[in-house]
Amino acid sequence: MKKQLKDFMKAIGKDSVAIIPAAHEKTRSYDTEYRFRQDSDFYYLTGFPEPDAIAVISPGDKKAPYILFVRPRDPEMEIWNGRREGVEGAVKNYGANKAYSIEKFEKMLPKLLDGKEKLYYRFGVDDKLDKLILQYLSIQRFRRLKTPYPPHTIVDPTLIIGEMRLHKTPEEIELMKKAADIAAEAHIIAMKSVKPGMTEAQVEAIIEHHFRMCGASGPAYNSIVGSGANATILHYVENNAVLKDGDLILIDAGCEYKGYASDITRTFPINGRFTKAQREIYDVVLETQLECIKATRKGVTVKERQDLSIELLTEGMKKLGLLKGSTKKLIKEKAYMRYYMHGVGHYLGLDVHDAGRYFLDQQTKFSRPFEPGMVLTVEPGIYVQPDDKEAPAKYRGIGVRIEDDVLVTEEGNVILTSKVPKDPEEIEELMNSSKKAEEIVELKIAKH
Ligand code: GLY
Ligand code: MN
Ligand code: MN
Repeated sequence: MKKQLKDFMKAIGKDSVAIIPAAHEKTRSYDTEYRFRQDSDFYYLTGFPEPDAIAVISPGDKKAPYILFVRPRDPEMEIWNGRREGVEGAVKNYGANKAYSIEKFEKMLPKLLDGKEKLYYRFGVDDKLDKLILQYLSIQRFRRLKTPYPPHTIVDPTLIIGEMRLHKTPEEIELMKKAADIAAEAHIIAMKSVKPGMTEAQVEAIIEHHFRMCGASGPAYNSIVGSGANATILHYVENNAVLKDGDLILIDAGCEYKGYASDITRTFPINGRFTKAQREIYDVVLETQLECIKATRKGVTVKERQDLSIELLTEGMKKLGLLKGSTKKLIKEKAYMRYYMHGVGHYLGLDVHDAGRYFLDQQTKFSRPFEPGMVLTVEPGIYVQPDDKEAPAKYRGIGVRIEDDVLVTEEGNVILTSKVPKDPEEIEELMNSSKKAEEIVELKIAKH
């Protein structure tokens, strides 16, 4: 049994039962499916990798506090669609106290629920299971039962699991370091490979090739490869333009390694040399990013770090001539949002935008201080739309974001993605040196 599951059991207590479903396969088109990705919470608690399973967790049940309902072994289905753990594997390899075929779940539901005070279940994710649970609970209301009642309180387990997921264990941090390393290398290879005339899709392919070569399951989110003005579209994923000499390229790509995400953005010149205007914007973003990384440390709050990014970028925008007026007023009126419209970062873990609350008190939003064990991104940016008549002409169509993944520690922080250069001179040196990408990363691939 995973430590995470033991901790979860302690948190929900002996008079509770939790029902945590796995994800299902999703149709991509006609009779083909997307590559399966397990539900993060289910994976976090059980480690069980297959679709259509359900974990039932009853800490007060001495014999079987942890039951897995799984797809049964089926020789014919397994020939067509792949191996299954079956009930035997669920017990033997995943530590379930008991396992049953998933078809038995409905019939066993009363036995699983009756006599418990609280049910931990997240409605709104799995329609079929929602209906099954609601149906059973509503029928029970009309009965004059002599037997124990089903739970009278339903609690969303998101909060408990989210708080657990937010604080990474040493084992999770190791996996995140690996995810960060692989993605950092991929960005280095991209910097070495990019040339005018290539397509964004080819750059995406180079990056994702490296992910898979190193044991990552693939990208942790759709890779963003935006050249020229495409960099000013925050979630640009068409990735189909031709790279032009003189433009910048923004690559936001991270991989998923054993379930854990990395998330890196670098922006660099396609021909290997920044223009003066590009450098001016780049330097403002970089300076802000460096300061916000420093602020990603124990005790600083989410809001303080966000405010710092806004203040520094607003000052920078004034320097560039993108904004005019008093900084205080520009911030109050949110003038910076014309060029900086997103947060400075987010939690990172099993999901790229990971679980966990950003404020502890509903009344004082964004007041949460960072704690050791949290991993956050730091990703300020400036985006000047190509048709922005208010911006100096030289800046129109330039988008710059710089993003790293940072682990908060007792002493300060560790930048997990520091291997990829972001200093503009270092970027130019790397892009123009005679060293091939393979020479820089070959040895590292061997380590994975
Ligand atoms: N790649 C998504 C993000 O940076 O938040
Ligand atoms: Mn991010
Ligand atoms: Mn990103």
